[in-house]
Amino acid sequence: MTIRIVEVGPRDGLQNEKAIIPTDVKVAFVDALSRCGFAEIEVSSFVSPKWVPQLADATEVFARITRRPGTVYSALVPNAAGLARAAEAGVDKIAVFTAASETFTRRNINATIAESIERFREVIARATVPVRGYLSTAFHCPYEGPIAPDAVVRVAQRLLDVGCLEVSIGDTIGKATPDEVEDVCSALAPVVPIDRLAMHFHDTFGRAVANAERAAAVGVTTFDSSAGGIGGCPYAPGASGNVSTQALIERFGAATGLDRAAVDRAAAIVQPWLGGA
Ligand code: HMG
Ligand code: MG
Repeated sequence: MTIRIVEVGPRDGLQNEKAIIPTDVKVAFVDALSRCGFAEIEVSSFVSPKWVPQLADATEVFARITRRPGTVYSALVPNAAGLARAAEAGVDKIAVFTAASETFTRRNINATIAESIERFREVIARATVPVRGYLSTAFHCPYEGPIAPDAVVRVAQRLLDVGCLEVSIGDTIGKATPDEVEDVCSALAPVVPIDRLAMHFHDTFGRAVANAERAAAVGVTTFDSSAGGIGGCPYAPGASGNVSTQALIERFGAATGLDRAAVDRAAAIVQPWLGGA
């Protein structure tokens, strides 16, 4: 079995940091991640700089990284303006993002779920690169509480309908349990082919590795993680870091094809810059 890990540290890991991290550091972080063996690295976001000031330098980061042939360098895109910026930067793959909860979607992208899907239809029609669709608050919402698997299935279906090639299911605030993960995976099975499904766990309650283990047991092979377990969403109170890439390497070993020492070296580049006010 091969486990495909999408490294999201430069985006999810850094987006919640209050003090602006120098672009040089971000470029060095991505370049170090390029030496680890990842098939895909999520480099930044082409969102409104008013909403996520930390990632306002996405264009510059893309211009200055050294791209390793064979690695996909992706970024978040919320709307047509973001797509234009991403295309200009030569992004290899984009990710649109919505959620299973109306309140979170309003707080995160200032839209209803239905409006977000219509925005994505327009973005995907114009996109010339593959598109991932994130589906946040798939288990618990910081505003609405537990989320029914049916709601997740409905949004996943709409993401596929508008042309997403991959759907990443987010435990945004890290509250899911392995049983809940299995329930959602089972509910999604008739709708999302397993090779087009990714799981995106945050580790707030220390269950992210167990959750990944359970998802792998039901056939999921793609997982998002961040070097050093850094991260969190600024619009999800209580969200902590992503599951750490090193923890997934420890759990899944050689199946990940990643160099653990190289991931440690990459994490060490950015660690001193985290937590500044
Ligand atoms: P809005 O305020 O409704 O939109 O925001 P707007 O069109 O009125 O734009 C506001 C201003 O931003 C305008 O500037 C626009 O030009 C500008 P002004 O006229 O005031 O000077 N603007 C942009 N600038 C650059 N690039 C753009 C762009 N769009 C607008 N793309 C919007 C709507 C979607 C833009 C906003 O809500 C937004 O950017 N949200 C992003 C929030 C975000 O990045 N959250 C974190 C990522 S999601 C996450 O972390 C979860 C995930 O990890 C999975 C999981 O864990 O569950 C993926
Ligand atoms: Mg996340």
